[in-house]
Amino acid sequence: MEMAQTWTPNSWRQKPIQQVPDYPDLLALEAVEGRLAKFPPLVFAGEARRLKSALANVAEGRGFLLQGGDCAESFAEHGADTIRDFFRAFLQMAVVLTFGAQQPVVKVGRIAGQFAKPRSSGVEKQGDVTLPSYRGDIINGIEFTEQARIPNPERQIMAYRQSAATLNLLRAFAMGGYANLENVHQWMLGFVKDSPQAERYRKLADRISETMDFMKAIGITSENHPSLRETDFFTSHEALLLGYEQALTRVDSTSGDWYATSGHMIWIGDRTRQPDHAHIEYCRGIKNPLGLKCGPSLTADGLLELIDLLNPANEAGRLTLICRFGHDKVAEHLPRLIRAVEREGKKVVWSCDPMHGNTITLNNYKTRPFERILSEVESFFQIHRAEGSHPGGIHIEMTGNDVTECTGGARALSGDDLADRYHTHCDPRLNADQALELAFLLAERMKGGRDEKKMVVNG
Ligand code: PEP
Ligand code: CO
Repeated sequence: MEMAQTWTPNSWRQKPIQQVPDYPDLLALEAVEGRLAKFPPLVFAGEARRLKSALANVAEGRGFLLQGGDCAESFAEHGADTIRDFFRAFLQMAVVLTFGAQQPVVKVGRIAGQFAKPRSSGVEKQGDVTLPSYRGDIINGIEFTEQARIPNPERQIMAYRQSAATLNLLRAFAMGGYANLENVHQWMLGFVKDSPQAERYRKLADRISETMDFMKAIGITSENHPSLRETDFFTSHEALLLGYEQALTRVDSTSGDWYATSGHMIWIGDRTRQPDHAHIEYCRGIKNPLGLKCGPSLTADGLLELIDLLNPANEAGRLTLICRFGHDKVAEHLPRLIRAVEREGKKVVWSCDPMHGNTITLNNYKTRPFERILSEVESFFQIHRAEGSHPGGIHIEMTGNDVTECTGGARALSGDDLADRYHTHCDPRLNADQALELAFLLAERMKGGRDEKKMVVNG
């Protein structure tokens, strides 16, 4: 067997690589990477370890991972209201899921660093004009002009600063009282208030408030129990732009290990998971929890090879498999991967991304029918129940804004509604209403799973 090669933060540079932007000025790029390398870390190793141990519980069947946020964060939409509304929608989902699963929900945002996008095609055509594709605000501009599409390294500095400001606000929300369970009624967003989800949410919030009142009566309050007023909220993004990641890769002084300090968890996209290529090389050497996108082209042997590269010690919590097959393909692909992983005794978190395999074009808009998203989630749960494995998480693209990007849901958005508020910089996201509806469905499935388990134990 070939000896594992020595890893360094830049050993990925010796490997073949996909999805690299064509920077015209390599000296300017190098200068930016040098500046970033001196900037403070965005997250700390201890936090990443804390997330890893929370995910280890999920891998062992004792918890659920909720991961979600924008497909691509943008410079234009950076603002306090957007962050707050996302956080509210996310907390609502989390509370619904906690109630349904009766298990801790590990909260991980696709936020504070989710800027770089892999593209299926290197170019975009509009009429007779062909330009390089938009690759996310950290690389180039979305405007369809030659100038905007030239990769500009200064954008990495902007993305770093936006990530720092976003993370700062998120930390304040998570630890400074906003996430206090006593506020469970206030997390409802204005436009969700008159939706069918509102009544369900209000009922649940009433039950939580009642429980809190009871606990208060016996002396358990948010003043003396921080877990009632604070929550752990983690960040994540696709580790696509490796020069940026390398610049933020630091040695943890406590353990002597290397960590990506650009976010707590990073994941490897479906287009960049070739075992002998750069993205796998970079990720195998850092100690953060990792995600791996698993699409239809991944074979069982291919997955086992990647698991051995990324998690050779088979540590629970290190690796989350984010499955994104499509509502009509999940039944064909998921069981074979589950069986291979179970057979080899590999410890992973199984998460379902019901977004990326269900994208269609309607009226010239990229969209995702809500019923297909639900259908993939349903299949994911059913298959895990049948295989005896733990359906451990969900990975979604969502926003707290009232957008019209995915069709369907309780308000039955149609193809004609898409033009109203289609704001995404990349893929279509669930709006807060649709996200909450999905959370209620998931909660029901998890409750169903619990009842089934009880029947097995009792029967
Ligand atoms: C994404 O998560 O936005 C993405 C590009 O996913 P995938 O790599 O699964 O296509
Ligand atoms: Co996406």
